[in-house]
Amino acid sequence: MKRKHDESVDLNELNELRRRAGELVARAGLENGGVKDAYKKLIHEFLDAGGPPDDLIVKIGCQFFGCPVGKSTQGPLQEVHVEGAKVLDFDYLEEFMVQCFLASGCPEKEARVSAGVLIEADKRGIDSHGIGRLKTIYLDRIKNGILKPYAPIDIVKETETTALVDGNMGMGLYVGPFCMELAIAKAKKSGLGFVACRNSTHYGIAGYYTSMACEKGCVGFAGTNARPSIAPTFGVEPCMGTNPLCFGIPSDEAFPFVIDCATSICQRGKIEKYARLGMSTPKGMVIDSNGEERTDTEGILKGMVKGECALTPLGGVGDELGGYKGYSWSVVVELLSIAFQNGDFGPQLTGVDAQGKPAPMSLGHFFLAINVEAICDLEVFKKKTGDFLRYLRNSAKDPNGPGRIWTAGEAENEFRKKRMAAGGVMVPPALLKDMQVLRESLPGLKEKYPKFSFE
Ligand SMILES: NC(=O)c1ccc[n+]([C@@H]2O[C@H](COP(=O)([O-])OP(=O)(O)OC[C@H]3O[C@@H](n4cnc5c(N)ncnc54)[C@H](O)[C@@H]3O)[C@@H](O)[C@H]2O)c1
Repeated sequence: MKRKHDESVDLNELNELRRRAGELVARAGLENGGVKDAYKKLIHEFLDAGGPPDDLIVKIGCQFFGCPVGKSTQGPLQEVHVEGAKVLDFDYLEEFMVQCFLASGCPEKEARVSAGVLIEADKRGIDSHGIGRLKTIYLDRIKNGILKPYAPIDIVKETETTALVDGNMGMGLYVGPFCMELAIAKAKKSGLGFVACRNSTHYGIAGYYTSMACEKGCVGFAGTNARPSIAPTFGVEPCMGTNPLCFGIPSDEAFPFVIDCATSICQRGKIEKYARLGMSTPKGMVIDSNGEERTDTEGILKGMVKGECALTPLGGVGDELGGYKGYSWSVVVELLSIAFQNGDFGPQLTGVDAQGKPAPMSLGHFFLAINVEAICDLEVFKKKTGDFLRYLRNSAKDPNGPGRIWTAGEAENEFRKKRMAAGGVMVPPALLKDMQVLRESLPGLKEKYPKFSFE
């Protein structure tokens, strides 16, 4: 059964599945292992139908039968269908983003580079970081005066293999590509290139940058800090950003290995999704200032704004499941984003001033490119990488899982192919509305788009 979209979860169906699961629990004491298998199957159906992993009936199964909690049979990145969504052609959407950046004061070249990073997120299925971010993270911030649509980029200090770059508070979406290009150029000449960047802003998906390196036969490593939201292990204060830590490694397959994710269990966007579904947040993802592991989604969202709720690092609360590992990886990203750059952290990056007004956030990034050919034959390297990834994918499957093993970057590659074949990305009504609002508010947009393709 296909996982349904947020807005189309069928509550009757969920209730029926829950009722049947309850019956099986009740019968379990009387019968043998067949009930356990039936229960597991039903719980997978329940989760795939959009049922919350923290539902009591799932939890009972977990305690009683040892069923995996929250494990879907679907695997990563499922296309979601929202009522009223429209498929927009990628070129059309990208050009719209370019026009918005131009109308907001960004020069042509930088507008195109920036839109290129955002549209790549939409192509890869990372919907939280594409058109969905255009208004709120970039154009609204430009309008509020806390983000410059353009500032010249300075190379402050440089050697054959390193550089310190200053983004002067321009858009991270064009500062980031500049820095990774510089790192790759140095790697191609000298084997390695490391670029630290200061005074930048939100740069989108970290995987864009490591993919740039892979395309040029380099191993890529990139990260950035962000507004503080992760609490340290045994702490409750949001101190670190969701701080993605990203590696890209070229392989002989159609796509490189790209692990591109935050160092928190989830991002704020996921909690917003639980809110839309009317679901509670699974325990362990959020801790409040009293040390409570919070599950009340609406309260969490309010608490996050006030700094009273923090996300937990990969591994979760405390040290039982290795939360200190995710915590320290997040610290690595924060340190590489601030120490070379003499950059801001913590309270200086909340995005609001003492009066609660929007304030600029000066972020740091880092980019490393390693030219594979400086060390070994690129084709041999790629083949060995591919061999190992294939070995992993062909290894024994979890009988409770989707029956398939993925390697990082694979799902995004498949999504890209599917979306390209479908001719574009499904844009939900809320974002179509954002496009209309931008058309009304930005100079020249009404003339360029008297009627959108979806109107
Ligand atoms: N600029 C910022 O401030 C900022 C902050 C945080 C995150 N981000 C971006 O947000 C995006 C999403 O981050 P996220 O933490 O939600 O990512 P996520 O939890 O969706 O994980 C995505 C990564 O995990 C891999 N993956 C997923 N399922 C897998 C499986 N079953 N087997 C193997 N690999 C699997 C994917 O290929 C991908 O590399 C990323 O692009 C990240 O760079 C940006």
